[in-house]
Amino acid sequence: MHPSPFFAVEFDPATRELLLLDQLKLPNEVAYRRLAEPDEAAEAIREMVVRGAPAIGITAAYALAMTAARVEGDAATFLLVHGGACRVLGNTRPTAVNLAWAISRMSRTAADAAKLAPKERYQRMLDEAESIHREDLQACRAMGALGALDVPQKATILTHCNTGALATGGFGTALGVIRAAREAGKEIRVLASETRPYLQGARLTSWELHQDGIEVEVITDNMVGHFLKQGEVDFVVVGSDRIAKNGDVANKIGTYGLAVLANHHGVPFTVAAPWSTVDIRTATGDSIPIEERSRGEVAEVGNRTLVAEGIGCRHPAFDITPASLIDAIYTERGKISPKQGEMITSL
Ligand code: MRU
Repeated sequence: MHPSPFFAVEFDPATRELLLLDQLKLPNEVAYRRLAEPDEAAEAIREMVVRGAPAIGITAAYALAMTAARVEGDAATFLLVHGGACRVLGNTRPTAVNLAWAISRMSRTAADAAKLAPKERYQRMLDEAESIHREDLQACRAMGALGALDVPQKATILTHCNTGALATGGFGTALGVIRAAREAGKEIRVLASETRPYLQGARLTSWELHQDGIEVEVITDNMVGHFLKQGEVDFVVVGSDRIAKNGDVANKIGTYGLAVLANHHGVPFTVAAPWSTVDIRTATGDSIPIEERSRGEVAEVGNRTLVAEGIGCRHPAFDITPASLIDAIYTERGKISPKQGEMITSL
């Protein structure tokens, strides 16, 4: 299912267990967790053992197949158990719409398969989860090829957060563009912003790119303006957790500031995302729910306390970049330029 030597999520049909690469342990340890119960999958998404918008959708889809494997009862019982599992999974992380998208796709399959015998019902749910996984990998390849066309022959690319095989069904969204540009023979160097507070850029993106032999350097988030001003950056590409109908993009906290700076310095600011990230029902970015995470993730790094007890911290996990700052959005359906007034609905 995946071209990388590692994978974020896989399902083992022999044991009916979910395998997740424990992203909390990277880059120090490459360890997989085996989950036997659907509830454990919800917990793993909440704790960010698995993260990245498409990867959490794929995880939820497999968790719903696992749920189906455990129900021997009739259609009504199955749909009741399935509905409960959907609620638990759906409440884990609110911003990435891929999660809700995967759950509703699995629920359509559940409704169709409910009357089947338990074994066939489970097989239909598993087939659907595998399709979601496979299609995401194909989407990453397609948007990667499209985005790579816009990357200069020799380029330093700045990217934020982790959008690679760790965050998707494989290959990656923004990292897919970078990988495809390299495959096309372009001379690529990457600056990965560390992505405080969870450090996806420092811990995950640099690890992934290093394994591919792509030259990468990690910078702290507050160095972004400096490198853009110095003229060191030719192209910016990031992923997205939700794209509103008007082309506003929700992505990892820090993306908005990066977009403002890239625009100020005339550097293309681009976004790569699968169609499962596009939320036509949300009119603008103002209506996208922003996940607020814990104080501890800001106040502590590893075992070290940075902020004295009793002092509050803010932790919005995402921000919204307005369409007017985005030069291109690449999806498997094609490319638009929101800055030029092109609408995502045209795809
Ligand atoms: O909080 P995370 O690590 O799940 O956030 C991930 C991102 O913001 C990615 O950039 C995003 O999921 C889109 S690309 C796969």
